[in-house]
Amino acid sequence: MRARDPGTSEQVLVLAPTGRDSAAACSLLEQAGLACKSCSGMDELCCELDIGAGGAVIAEEAFFRSDPACLFEWVDNQPPWSDFPFVILTTHRDAPRARQHTVELISKLRNVTLQERPIQTVTLVTAVDAALRARLRQYEAAKYLAEREQAASRLEELIRERTRQLQEANIRLIGAQESLTMALEAAQMRTWNVDLIERASESSPDGTSSGDAAWLLSRWSAAIGEALPSSDRGEFGRAFEQALATGKFHVEIRLAGGEDETRWVVAEGRLYRDQQNRPIRLAGTIRDVTERRQIEESLRQTQKLEVIGQLTGGVAHDFNNLLTAVLGNIELASLRTRDEKLLSILRSAAGAAERGAKLTSQLLAFARKQHLAPRVVSLNELVSSMGDLLHQTLGATIRIETVLEKDVWPVLTDPTQLELVILNLAINSRDAMPHGGRLTVATKNIGASDRRRPVGLPDADYVALAVSDTGSGMTHEVAVKAFEPFFTTKAIGQGTGLGLSQVLGFARQSGGDVRIESRVGQGTTITILLPRSRESLPRPVDENRAMSHDGNAATILVVDDDPAVRHLTVQALETMNYRVIEAENGRVGLDMFRQNGRIDLALIDLVMPVMNGRQLATQIRAADPQRPILFMTGYDDLSGSDDPFAEEMVIKKPFKLVELAAAVEQTLERRDPHAPGWNVTPIRKIKRKQP
Ligand SMILES: Nc1ncnc2c1ncn2[C@@H]1O[C@H](COP(=O)(O)OP(=O)(O)OP(=O)(O)O)[C@@H](O)[C@H]1O
Ligand SMILES: [Mg+2]
Repeated sequence: MRARDPGTSEQVLVLAPTGRDSAAACSLLEQAGLACKSCSGMDELCCELDIGAGGAVIAEEAFFRSDPACLFEWVDNQPPWSDFPFVILTTHRDAPRARQHTVELISKLRNVTLQERPIQTVTLVTAVDAALRARLRQYEAAKYLAEREQAASRLEELIRERTRQLQEANIRLIGAQESLTMALEAAQMRTWNVDLIERASESSPDGTSSGDAAWLLSRWSAAIGEALPSSDRGEFGRAFEQALATGKFHVEIRLAGGEDETRWVVAEGRLYRDQQNRPIRLAGTIRDVTERRQIEESLRQTQKLEVIGQLTGGVAHDFNNLLTAVLGNIELASLRTRDEKLLSILRSAAGAAERGAKLTSQLLAFARKQHLAPRVVSLNELVSSMGDLLHQTLGATIRIETVLEKDVWPVLTDPTQLELVILNLAINSRDAMPHGGRLTVATKNIGASDRRRPVGLPDADYVALAVSDTGSGMTHEVAVKAFEPFFTTKAIGQGTGLGLSQVLGFARQSGGDVRIESRVGQGTTITILLPRSRESLPRPVDENRAMSHDGNAATILVVDDDPAVRHLTVQALETMNYRVIEAENGRVGLDMFRQNGRIDLALIDLVMPVMNGRQLATQIRAADPQRPILFMTGYDDLSGSDDPFAEEMVIKKPFKLVELAAAVEQTLERRDPHAPGWNVTPIRKIKRKQP
């Protein structure tokens, strides 16, 4: 027998209040194999129904003998799946009231089978059996419904769980995407992705053709939204072949921007293949490396200029000595003749030699080995004083503007050289504006913390002098080479290509630098940056007094290894009535100094073999710490910060005789050695900046 449970019970309940009807019916049903329970009254029946039953057989009179309210209530409160089967045993009666009562009963109990008494056993069993089968189907439906409900709620739970997991994954994905975007932005990177499936179905599984590379390039360009110049396409094709072989894609190429706006990028990626080993996807990143390339390029350029500078410096040094001799001899010869014809020849010889000297000085300037006679200068005053010169040089079609910052800081610079530099820049601008335009000369202070300061400068205050034009501008290729000596785009005979080299050499030797900004068709700005000075103006030298000295029989020791220069110097000094002793190197010079009791001044070349100028001077000063010494040089040798001769005066070769006269006199009379005359400065000021 099954356990009694409202969802499965097959118990048949019997309620027949008259005599032994109940027991008899039960025994009949039990004989037919059905489980049966006889109930004593309506209340018990209701209790049994609560416990669980498969059907009920109720004699009609039971509804008159006891209150059926609990039964009707039970029927009303059945669960939706349940339609409990009742078999009501009736007695045939014709009275309408009785029929009415039966109809009411049927409507209240809902699932009713009427069996009229006297009743056959078989009929009763069949009716109860049918009721039970109907009940069993209800149980099944209930079970099915419950299972469905359970499945539905499990499904709901599952959906809730999956939704939660999806949301979490989504949040993680958004976070990862944000970090990736941030990382890519920080690294100035972008991603790209090219689908190769379409192509894979066409190409052979093991290789590629040049058509593939071209196809890929067009897809890749579309993916990054930019095109490649044709010169770099081969490089791209090679990178693709490499990717097919190794799975890794790497290429450094240019992107075709505007005419002077080439950008360099590094593209890196991976090749993905399907199970048949066919390439299906190429994806990776792209990174702008223009700045790095520019820095590398400018470093290479600087190193190249440095090497050229050293070479040029050496050659120019020898030329300088030659020209000193040539010019000096011409000058001496001019002093000794009054023959106008000869004088005119000598003048044109001097003119040619001076042009040579100018070229040499430009080379020395580029090599940062020119003698600078720095003074404290106001750039605004210097620029203003050049107005007429610039107008004459540039002509009427070019408008000249100055934008001078008020209270511009003073700079320590050689004003004559700086004027030459500005003139050089103005001439370049004039050449770039054959049909006229505008030249602007501007000054401005750039403090150590100024945001406008160009990159790559040491932390210090600078004054910027910018010369801008509205001319043809330069391509990137020309701009990088513009500072190289002898680089020119001008026709033969029109430019030596030394202008900007000199500008750069001058700026660097003055402790500053130069920057170039140029756009094709728009113009060029060249900015010279000079370090701010806090020194005060030196006293100017009286030019008229320079040659007035009559020698006064002072004895001068001249030590120079270059015979031409030495000979000239000796002759010049003798012309000025000095007594002169000459020596071809430091060692001989020292001997002569020791042998001759009275030497009033030693005139010593700084750079000499055997014993150099400083070594000789050291020996002389050891013997007599007060002995006046004047150095000569055509070349800036490096001297350490502990140079004991830093305050001694030096005269620069090639010098004019008047300059030599003034310097000698100044040194002999021990006039303020800190006030430089022309062509004469303390050694410390000509020191070249240590590279
Ligand atoms: N303001 C400018 N505008 C356009 N191009 C310029 C400008 N300044 C210089 N350049 C370019 O740079 C090149 C080098 O200039 P640089 O002054 O060194 O030599 P140059 O003018 O050719 O000859 P030089 O100055 O010795 O007579 C020039 O040939 C020119 O192509
Ligand atoms: Mg020039």
